[in-house]
Amino acid sequence: MNEQQRKDMSQIRQVNPEEATSDKNNLNRLKEKSSEDFMKYFETTYQPPNMRDAQRRKKKETDVHYDFTIPEDMDQSGKGKKYMIRTYGCQMNEHDTEVMAGIFEEMGYESTSDTKEADIILLNTCAIRENAENKVFGEIGHLKPLKMENPNLIIGVCGCMSQEESVVNRILKKHPFIDLIFGTHNIHRLPQLVKEAMFGKEMVIDVWSKEGDIIENLPRSRKGKIKAWVNIMYGCDKFCTYCIVPYTRGKERSRLPADIIQEVRHLAAQGYKEVTLLGQNVNAYGKDLDLEYGLGDLMDELRSIDIPRVRFTTSHPRDFDDRLIEVLSKGGNMLDHIHLPVQSGNTDVLKIMGRKYSREEYLELVKRIRKSMPDATLTTDIIVGFPNETEEQFQDTLSLVEEVGFEAAYTFIYSPRENTPAAKMKDNVSMEEKKDRLQRLNKLVNEQSAEAMKQYEGEIVHVLVEGESKNNEEVLAGYTKRNKLVNFRAPRSSIGQIVPVKITKAKTWSLDGEMVEASVEVK
Ligand code: SAH
Ligand code: SF4
Ligand code: F3S
Repeated sequence: MNEQQRKDMSQIRQVNPEEATSDKNNLNRLKEKSSEDFMKYFETTYQPPNMRDAQRRKKKETDVHYDFTIPEDMDQSGKGKKYMIRTYGCQMNEHDTEVMAGIFEEMGYESTSDTKEADIILLNTCAIRENAENKVFGEIGHLKPLKMENPNLIIGVCGCMSQEESVVNRILKKHPFIDLIFGTHNIHRLPQLVKEAMFGKEMVIDVWSKEGDIIENLPRSRKGKIKAWVNIMYGCDKFCTYCIVPYTRGKERSRLPADIIQEVRHLAAQGYKEVTLLGQNVNAYGKDLDLEYGLGDLMDELRSIDIPRVRFTTSHPRDFDDRLIEVLSKGGNMLDHIHLPVQSGNTDVLKIMGRKYSREEYLELVKRIRKSMPDATLTTDIIVGFPNETEEQFQDTLSLVEEVGFEAAYTFIYSPRENTPAAKMKDNVSMEEKKDRLQRLNKLVNEQSAEAMKQYEGEIVHVLVEGESKNNEEVLAGYTKRNKLVNFRAPRSSIGQIVPVKITKAKTWSLDGEMVEASVEVK
């Protein structure tokens, strides 16, 4: 660790999840008569979402609600109207969009992908890196003329960016034509919020910087009929020093096993072929429940459900236990693909990132996984250019990528996020250097991916057929158990089925093949 890094380390304020919470900043709506009153209100009374409150963790118990209903006065209020939701960010956000779509449809709205046709447009935003936020502000700018043309159009901003104080302030000051801002804890209030936005004169703001509850019986309008997402937990308590998610998503809270199992059973009965269990840190599943029940136990129960594929994301190496490895190695609908974000291959950098494992511990875990699941495919996430990362430390990341043999990786340049501990660190690595490191890392990852793909040439794999390929409607596409994208010719009747495909050509990120009638040996 160099001197600057040691200094940064000593200044990281460890978050104490037990700290008292002050829930006083329940932001409700701003509804004033004139813009002068509004500015007065804004300066004196208005309380933005508060990152300090958002990092507090006090409540041990999570409130679970099973009583969601559309208020009577909003029931069918969307008849003859259309909604559009634009989604940014991770699967969690994609799935939240399915929930909001479900609520809109219960209110009688129909979906549209044409902004000109929409009566209400929501941007479901992501705050993970600066460029994610820039995209959203760009889109807000594009929507302004639409609002000018059609003042009855409701435009809303929701998702992770809404949980940030600076974002809410910027929208208030620079984009006052936005009608509605609400956060990740308030999705179930969508009907009431739409009503307030429709009938009120000022911007409606509903953002709670709180730990979060669980609302069980929300409707969902799922995007597909083949693959489905299932939340198993919400929030994150890891507080990696660079990351904004624990502030935008609240505390770690697990759904009860029975609720998850019932949802998966229901999906299986509807004919879904694959579920992906969702959480920011799924390996911590169950730790907040008084049940002695973890992700391994949950997966073991899901093994007996008649659904061909069960995936989960995202794993945190720290909480990945042997019970889970044991269950995954039983095969069946448990898949041998594990996405295991490492972030860096250097122990000192991992320490300053607050990841709570060392390079050696990560490699040891990989060894344990490989021992029980020799064919497992491992993929990862990596951040380059963390503040003061040295060339040697970056070399450790390259060597770890080689040593583990990752077959794919999402790679990012570190992006400072407001109010996180890392954002306060002085940084001596230039952007030019960071970009160069990203390029060198991507080159290695691409080589490894291509090499892994090559091994499939001539093999027969089982592909869950999802539909037409992106670039050619005569070609179908789907994924193997190990998450390899395959493009191949087959009758359209195979969509939604798992079919054997012989691989004819390997590319860097995908495989080409032909469907075969019967499989002999399948990879
Ligand atoms: N919960 C998951 C990650 C969610 S965010 C986990 O812990 O693995 C997805 C990825 O975005 C992270 O794995 C990390 O690689 C990247 N990321 C998060 N914050 C970032 C930041 N401030 N700058 C750059 N990349 C970041
Ligand atoms: Fe962010 Fe993932 Fe770390 Fe949680 S575990 S703080 S979501 S990187
Ligand atoms: Fe982005 Fe929020 Fe997901 S910040 S990555 S949408 S949890």
